[in-house]
Order: sequence, then C-alpha cells, then structure tokens
Amino acid sequence: MNFHLRIWRQKDRQTPGKLIDYDVRDISPNTSFLEMLDILNENLLQRGEEPVAFDSDCREGICGTCCLTVNGEAHGPDHPGAVCELYMRKFRDRATITIEPFRVGAFPILKDLVIDRSALDRIVQAGGFISARSGSAPEANSIPIPKRDADLAMEAAACIGCGACAAACPNGSAMLFTSAKVSHLALLPQGHPEREGRVLKMVEVMDAEGFGNCTNTYECEAVCPVEISASFIAKLNREYASARFRRSVGE
Ligand code: SF4
Ligand code: FES
Repeated sequence: MNFHLRIWRQKDRQTPGKLIDYDVRDISPNTSFLEMLDILNENLLQRGEEPVAFDSDCREGICGTCCLTVNGEAHGPDHPGAVCELYMRKFRDRATITIEPFRVGAFPILKDLVIDRSALDRIVQAGGFISARSGSAPEANSIPIPKRDADLAMEAAACIGCGACAAACPNGSAMLFTSAKVSHLALLPQGHPEREGRVLKMVEVMDAEGFGNCTNTYECEAVCPVEISASFIAKLNREYASARFRRSVGE
C-alpha cells in the first residue's frame, strides 16, 4: 500500500509549526501505524533529513504514551483502541492521512508530534493515591467489597492516562480522566479516609491547569481507548458536591 502523509512538524515549543507532506510506499496492510512512521523515519534518515518526533512506549495499548490525532480523530479511526493498536489495513490504498499532536491548551507541543501531558500527572499528584499503609496483598475475602463496586473500580482503574478525552472534547476537558481516577479510589474502602479532600484537590488542580468543563458532548467516551464510561463524570460531580457540602457544614 502507498500513502500520502501530512504530518505536523514543529521545531520546539516557541516556533510555529506546519503540516509537511511525505509519501510512504510498499507498506504492508499488516504494518501498525507507528511502524509505518518508523519506516518513514528510516527513509528520512537515509536522505539526511530530520526524523519525525513522536512518542510511544508499550505499543500495545497499555501505557497511554502514543498521543496522535489521525485525520482529526484522537487515536485515529479504529475505536476503541490507542493509536499504537491501529493498523494500515484500516486505510484505503493511496489515502491521504493527516497526523497531528493532541490539540489541548494544557498539553503544550514540545516537538513535532510530542506533547507535554504532565498536567495529568499533577492532577494525580494532588490526590490520586492513598496514604494509608495497606501492607502486602490481603486475602481476597478479608475486605468484603460488593461485586458491583469492585467491577466499577476495575473499569475506572483501566484509564491509561493518554489524554485523548481532553483532545476530543470541544472544551478541552479532562473530566473523564479525573473522574476515572477519583472513582476508582472512591469505590474502594482503602480510598475512603481521603475521599473528600481527594476530589476537592484534584478538581482544583484540573481547573488550575486550564482544562475546560464538561458540557455532555460525549466525545471523550467515543475516543477513549479503554472505553471509560462518561457515567464516571456524573460520579465525579456527585463526589465533588458531597465533599463541598460536608466541608461547608463543618463535617
Ligand atoms: S479516560 Fe480514556 S481517553 Fe481519558 S485519559 Fe483515561 S484512557 Fe485516555
Ligand atoms: S504506546 Fe503504549 S498505549 Fe500506545
């Protein structure tokens, strides 16, 4: 297969970027999207040109590092899945493919397709942890947790922190990400001692980092590679309202 690529090239954070055209030829349909970019970079290096900078690590949908917008869609056209799980057979031969970084004000572009997503780390640092000593792994039945809560906590914990939800949201909101992190701890007994302070601090940092608010467009849920449900945003709102009320009456 042959493809015409339009790739965002940007020297650094300060320099304006632009889309540059490239052609890649004789690509197997079973080549992954990131392997196709590797082939492009090998060709560029052979021609003495600068390779395209892009992030990846696990290349199997686990780490959340690969953050590309492909033809206007965060993680590309094969939902649910991260862009590292996308294969070239998903495109037609001779297609033009536009590749850009995630466009979110809180994720500055560092170079080409590489963005700084440390704003998400700072939200987690504000409260996405428990500070009680939990010791070694307990016997499974020693802390009774309703099956529904255990399943929901596991669903929320699947968030890989990629930031696609913020990239797809017209408001640049990170509420799906924050709701997953808040919910997975709020649903488990180990997360209860810091439950109120956690949601208040994480939402405060989320706002301070410049992420927008949720207006229920559900774009986040549509692109999430691990299918985090937008219903967790409703849980985040309930956790937040409850914490604010309890603090206001001095509980
Ligand atoms: S909620 Fe989904 S889209 Fe958002 S950061 Fe987590 S895994 Fe990525
Ligand atoms: S490289 Fe790890 S999720 Fe894509």
